[in-house]
Amino acid sequence: MQIVFAAAEAAPYAKVGGLADVAGSLPQALAALGHDVTLYLPLHRTIDRAKFQITDRAPFRSVPYGKSRVRVAYPSVVRDGVRVVFVRNDQRLGRNRVYGEPDDAKRYAFFCRAVFEDLRDSPPDIVHAHDWHAALLVPLVARARALAATSTVFTIHNLAYQGRTAASVLALIGLPRARLPIEDRTEANPMARAIVSADIVSTVSERYAKEILTDEFGERLQGVLRERRRRLFGIVNGIDTVAFDPATDRRIAARYGADDPGGKALCKEALQKEGGLAVDPRAPVFGVVGRLVEQKGIDLLTAAAPKLLDSGGQLVVLGTGDPAYEAMWKALAARSGGKLWLTLGFDAGLAQRIYAGSDLFLMPSRFEPCGLGQLISFRYGTIPVVHEVGGLAETVRDVDRDGARGNGFSFAEYATVAFDDAIARAMRAYRTSTEAWSELVRRAMREDHSWGASAKRYVDLYKTASRVRKAA
Ligand code: GLC
Repeated sequence: MQIVFAAAEAAPYAKVGGLADVAGSLPQALAALGHDVTLYLPLHRTIDRAKFQITDRAPFRSVPYGKSRVRVAYPSVVRDGVRVVFVRNDQRLGRNRVYGEPDDAKRYAFFCRAVFEDLRDSPPDIVHAHDWHAALLVPLVARARALAATSTVFTIHNLAYQGRTAASVLALIGLPRARLPIEDRTEANPMARAIVSADIVSTVSERYAKEILTDEFGERLQGVLRERRRRLFGIVNGIDTVAFDPATDRRIAARYGADDPGGKALCKEALQKEGGLAVDPRAPVFGVVGRLVEQKGIDLLTAAAPKLLDSGGQLVVLGTGDPAYEAMWKALAARSGGKLWLTLGFDAGLAQRIYAGSDLFLMPSRFEPCGLGQLISFRYGTIPVVHEVGGLAETVRDVDRDGARGNGFSFAEYATVAFDDAIARAMRAYRTSTEAWSELVRRAMREDHSWGASAKRYVDLYKTASRVRKAA
């Protein structure tokens, strides 16, 4: 099959969140299954053109936009069997941030139109668009006669971000304004438009696919989603098991694996030293890597931290986010007597050292479509403590509930006491028996969260999408 991906970010070119990990590794997994995959990305200003050998000489097109036409270049590179096309117009698309610029809505609408223009000459079998940034590509393709044989799949990585904007943006890229019932008179909701027009809608875990049909998690689109429930599927994410592999990772202090876990203790010692924590092999080290925002359960984390530190735990936190929470965490670190190491920022190398050097990993997210931190933790033999929601509920099994099948600790009710209890149970397990703990660590490391199985499920989904399209 010829498959086209469109996304705002993909590792290693541009990375803000988990979307980049998925868009940077699922295409490779599909290519490995024998499919022909092209990934479209905007050429953000932050993408290192020299490093990735993105040349100035490239085919170009004149893309209609409002009443004018805009020249767009399409330089491409091939990486691991996937063709990556960078959509280039420095004035309209070249920005310093992937998200959070004043013109996000127009910029991504233009991106969709520019991708659409490039597909018309040789229509692919499948267009697979990700999140609201690529969402308007779905109705563009669905309406085009030239692309009548192309099926569309839209994947929701996070329903909370819908790209709501002024309805006038639609006309700029040639889409009719006819409003959806959930849109205000002057508003366009790109994510909702993709949900109603895609042949297939999917999201990144089965559990989240069910949750978003409810008032609690539906983010006002539960009605629209319920109407499409027969075309809505969940496929759990995989991770890039080559990039995340403690047996070969050069960014961590020592290499190790399930059959030879000794190096993990060295990684822990190195992390304690680096963070200025007491170098104590028996103190449970808890890691946190992620944005310090509402979604990630930052309020529960903030409430739980003092108790965790008082009971002898150490805490290593890496992330950025809400300025109010950043300030609170600075204050917590200052008062922690060297038991909390806080780094505000993002640093991929440090993230990996935290995954490798921690004993436990905290993810009390309010909602979590899939979550990759718990999967990376398994790989590094670090035991996750999570809220039972979305992809976390789907991938983490509580040791105290599931016994020998357990691979972590979880709590059902989103409340401080419940989170505290899960942390306390984890600490107890860690301290009670070194042997049982080592067994748990080995079991976690043996879990298979490579893309293999999920990539095959996407192929099935594409086949379903083709059938849906033909029938239509
Ligand atoms: C978003 C979601 C996260 C998911 C990721 C990749 O960042 O919040 O749960 O793992 O997308 O699909």
